[in-house]
Amino acid sequence: MVKPTISLLFLVFSVFPLLFSLASANIPLGTTLTPSGNTSLASPNVTFSFGFIPISATNSPSFAAAISYSGIAVWKAGGDSVTVDSNGAFQFLQNGNLRLLSGNGSVVWESGTANRGITTAILDDSGNLSLKNGSGTVWSTFDYPTDTILPTQNFTPAMVLRSGVYSFNLVSTGNLTLTWNDSIVYWNQALNSTYSNLTSPNLNIQSIGTVTLNDPTFSSPAIMVYSSDYGEGTDVLRFLKLDSDGNFRIYSSARGSGSDTDRWAAVEDQCLVFGYCGNMGVCGYNDTTPVCRCPSENFALVDPNDSRKGCQRKVALEACPDNATMLQLDHAQFLTYPPEISSQVFFVAISACKSNCLQGHCTASTSLADGTGQCYIKVSNFISGYESPALPSTSFVKVCSPGIPNSPPSEGARDTTAGKVPPWVVLVVVAVTLLGLVLLEGGLWWWCCRNSPKFGGLSTQYALLEYASGAPVQFLFKELQRTTKEFKEKLGAGGFGTVYKGILANKTVVAVKQLEGIEQGEKQFRMEVATISSTHHLNLVRLIGFCSEGRHRLLVYEFMKNGSLDSFLFASEDPSGKFLDWEARFNIALGTARGITYLHEECRDCIVHCDIKPENILLDDNYNAKVSDFGLAKLVNPKDHRYRTLTSVRGTRGYLAPEWLANLPITSKSDVYSYGMVLLEIVSGRRNFEVSEDTGRKKFSLWAYEEFDRGNMESIVDKRMAEHGMDMEQVIRAIQVSFWCIQEQPSQRPVMGKVVQMLEGIIATEKPPAPKATAEGSVNGTSMNVSSTVSALSTFGTSAPVVSSSSSFHAIGVSSSQSGSNIERTTSLVQLN
Ligand SMILES: *[C@@H]1O[C@H](CO)[C@@H](O)[C@H](O)[C@H]1NC(C)=O
Ligand SMILES: *[C@@H]1O[C@H](CO)[C@@H](O)[C@H](O)[C@H]1NC(C)=O
Ligand SMILES: *[C@@H]1O[C@H](CO)[C@@H](O)[C@H](O)[C@H]1NC(C)=O
Ligand SMILES: *[C@@H]1O[C@H](CO)[C@@H](O)[C@H](O)[C@H]1NC(C)=O
Ligand SMILES: *[C@@H]1O[C@H](CO)[C@@H](O)[C@H](O)[C@H]1NC(C)=O
Ligand SMILES: *[C@@H]1O[C@H](CO)[C@@H](O)[C@H](O)[C@H]1NC(C)=O
Ligand SMILES: *[C@@H]1O[C@H](CO)[C@@H](O)[C@H](O)[C@H]1NC(C)=O
Ligand SMILES: *[C@@H]1O[C@H](CO)[C@@H](O)[C@H](O)[C@H]1NC(C)=O
Ligand SMILES: *[C@@H]1O[C@H](CO)[C@@H](O)[C@H](O)[C@H]1NC(C)=O
Ligand SMILES: *[C@@H]1O[C@H](CO)[C@@H](O)[C@H](O)[C@H]1NC(C)=O
Ligand SMILES: *[C@@H]1O[C@H](CO)[C@@H](O)[C@H](O)[C@H]1NC(C)=O
Ligand SMILES: *[C@@H]1O[C@H](CO)[C@@H](O)[C@H](O)[C@H]1NC(C)=O
Repeated sequence: MVKPTISLLFLVFSVFPLLFSLASANIPLGTTLTPSGNTSLASPNVTFSFGFIPISATNSPSFAAAISYSGIAVWKAGGDSVTVDSNGAFQFLQNGNLRLLSGNGSVVWESGTANRGITTAILDDSGNLSLKNGSGTVWSTFDYPTDTILPTQNFTPAMVLRSGVYSFNLVSTGNLTLTWNDSIVYWNQALNSTYSNLTSPNLNIQSIGTVTLNDPTFSSPAIMVYSSDYGEGTDVLRFLKLDSDGNFRIYSSARGSGSDTDRWAAVEDQCLVFGYCGNMGVCGYNDTTPVCRCPSENFALVDPNDSRKGCQRKVALEACPDNATMLQLDHAQFLTYPPEISSQVFFVAISACKSNCLQGHCTASTSLADGTGQCYIKVSNFISGYESPALPSTSFVKVCSPGIPNSPPSEGARDTTAGKVPPWVVLVVVAVTLLGLVLLEGGLWWWCCRNSPKFGGLSTQYALLEYASGAPVQFLFKELQRTTKEFKEKLGAGGFGTVYKGILANKTVVAVKQLEGIEQGEKQFRMEVATISSTHHLNLVRLIGFCSEGRHRLLVYEFMKNGSLDSFLFASEDPSGKFLDWEARFNIALGTARGITYLHEECRDCIVHCDIKPENILLDDNYNAKVSDFGLAKLVNPKDHRYRTLTSVRGTRGYLAPEWLANLPITSKSDVYSYGMVLLEIVSGRRNFEVSEDTGRKKFSLWAYEEFDRGNMESIVDKRMAEHGMDMEQVIRAIQVSFWCIQEQPSQRPVMGKVVQMLEGIIATEKPPAPKATAEGSVNGTSMNVSSTVSALSTFGTSAPVVSSSSSFHAIGVSSSQSGSNIERTTSLVQLN
């Protein structure tokens, strides 16, 4: 008995030795902290601590004096750039001054509060370290933030967050800005113009995850941003931070986890942060991470160990042995933000854009191909580049001739760092690659002929091999017309357009979706296509290519032989007698959940599907589930992609979560709701909104819960399945999970990753409460009656457009209209321009 207690005590003391040594809010003047000695002082309830934290652990370790939350620094003495070695010290001097000393004893930072009668230093539970004298607070870390804003902290126009060359400001007009080197504003978010003549604005982050702006002239704070996990979880610290990559993010960190997750980023496309790759650096994406490289072989990285430091010319322009020349960079642009552009924008065509720069005092130029006819001439000595296959612009950079373009991406990145590769290596690599391809193809041939009696399987495999390079193929409209025999064979029609069967030149069978209602320009469309096509998962339908010509917008997907799930589920709708047994259905349920989990949690830009229903779950040859139509909700709505907030989305009656109609933010939890409805349908073989005598004239989903509550599982389960035998334990698990998913309160619904674990039985599933709660929900401290919105949902088939019931969310405007079975809701965060 004694041994475990002792080792437990030992564990506690070894993990938190310092919290026990000095767990006091009041820090006595005269205290000295060192990286090796008294390293930490905790706030009264141990939420925050102050002390040295390690910054780098090489042979010469460095430390910063910081206030931290489970090891995450939220304030640093002197900011990012100030670190000391292991002999450094932090002093609370008797005269009231705070000082950070470096190892050699020189003062590297001080608070400048000497001789102002300071009697106490206090670190409170909100993370505020303040110095007080008899009459009040003289100095506090909340008044001198470094790169982070915490809940309860007031950020005012007099303050600034800094990280490297980047800074974040609140302008007195209410604009939020990100600035590079105190000169170029690369992000600006303004308040809605109905808020004007602010007197003294201040910015806050609420603990639930909203960023609000308040002013004495406002009746209530204006919501600027919602974090994606807004209102979810308990005991989560959310904070705003200006990162060293120049992006401004909301982070969430669960107590004790010691890790944080970003839940919103101001600049969604990291490459659009000015100067991210340093001077002359060009930003692009390697799969999903931004990477920096030089414009051409005429340049070399300033620091081969850190590509973000930028590039330098191998030969200076003034010292060119020959004349200078303009090197062309396709799909690239040099970033330009006001006020820099005004004198440097010209309406000239591409070749003039090139030659004007060559002759003038100019380092680079960009010719936009977005229809504006504009050419940017870059004369500044700092230029920041961005390249992406989705960019329609062409750029030129002035170099000494001859201009030597980069070799293709993969090799290029290596070449610049590793120097020249001998020619024989290239030959061997080419030969081995060719041999490998031949073997792979032979192997595929063998594999197909062996496994599939039908010869058709081969061509699909072959085509996918060809498209395996990953980039979406661009088709001509004519080509797709031919492919689909003038759009003859219709496969189906969905919320976003009609789908036709097509056969490509190489005999691959494809599904061609003709999109309707796309208002986006060419550029946005290409960006969304790039996002969709970079999203690969076993349980997601693969995008092969696209077409964007004039007003035509088409997407080409892999073809799914077994069609959509609905034709197997609902006997009453499809009398052909197609049927799936429980084992197959369970696999489909699990596959679908995994696909959605990937969209929500694992890919770069979290995608909320917004239209999960059996019609959008397709089945391949082996009845594997593949989710389709993801990413399209964003396509039909032009403005949102910069803000990760859905402004206009479409969904389908019966599968829409209550928050759609209740003027609340749509989050990944809305997909969980739709998935829950689909799961219930997979078990029952009946539409969740079906109303019949059987169900006592109630919606099937409500009736099913009552039956479940009485322990009457058999009445819920599809009768056809019972004959084929089924794993009753799995069935009950699935039913319970489905009721958890369709809880009216988003916070009650599990996240998709947890749904997978519950289905698999990895974590236990408790009995779900009734999905339709009658209790009042409370959001943002303002109560509102949620059940009224649900009754709106249940009578939606006949009701007039739903009117917003909440006035506390004045940040959102809602209009809704109904067309067919698709419901379109347009919301806009009004402050976001
Ligand atoms: C640790 O703090 C105590 C109390 O302030 C002080 O007496 C002691 O000298 C400090 N030790 C070091 C190594 O700074
Ligand atoms: C002490 O170290 C700092 C850097 O930590 C350096 O800037 C300063 O010159 C050094 N002073 C002396 C006297 O060595
Ligand atoms: C406290 O500090 C403020 C601001 O520095 C000063 O005006 C005030 O006189 C000080 N009060 C005392 C009691 O020293
Ligand atoms: C510590 O205090 C803060 C502020 O009062 C509170 O939000 C937090 O929940 C407290 N933490 C614990 C563990 O009591
Ligand atoms: C925290 O910071 C504010 C300034 O933003 C200050 O007025 C306040 O007194 C500080 N809190 C405590 C407990 O000292
Ligand atoms: C930042 O601006 C200053 C002057 O405002 C200038 O001297 C410096 O070169 C700039 N930094 C870069 C990296 O261009
Ligand atoms: C605030 O943002 C708006 C919209 O982007 C812009 O027109 C305005 O000039 C900005 N105001 C300031 C002071 O930056
Ligand atoms: C500003 O917000 C109000 C509602 O708060 C809205 O009616 C108005 O259209 C918005 N104005 C702009 C310019 O977005
Ligand atoms: C803001 O101030 C200007 C000039 O002072 C005035 O014309 C305008 O009506 C004011 N706007 C509001 C909404 O008060
Ligand atoms: C690109 O990504 C691949 C795989 O993720 C990695 O091996 C490679 O080093 C990356 N290239 C660069 C330039 O970062
Ligand atoms: C890059 O890193 C290597 C090994 O870490 C080091 O030897 C070299 O000096 C570094 N180069 C530069 C320019 O810092
Ligand atoms: C360099 O440019 C000048 C003027 O455009 C031209 O006369 C000369 O022939 C060029 N030299 C070479 C080597 O191309």
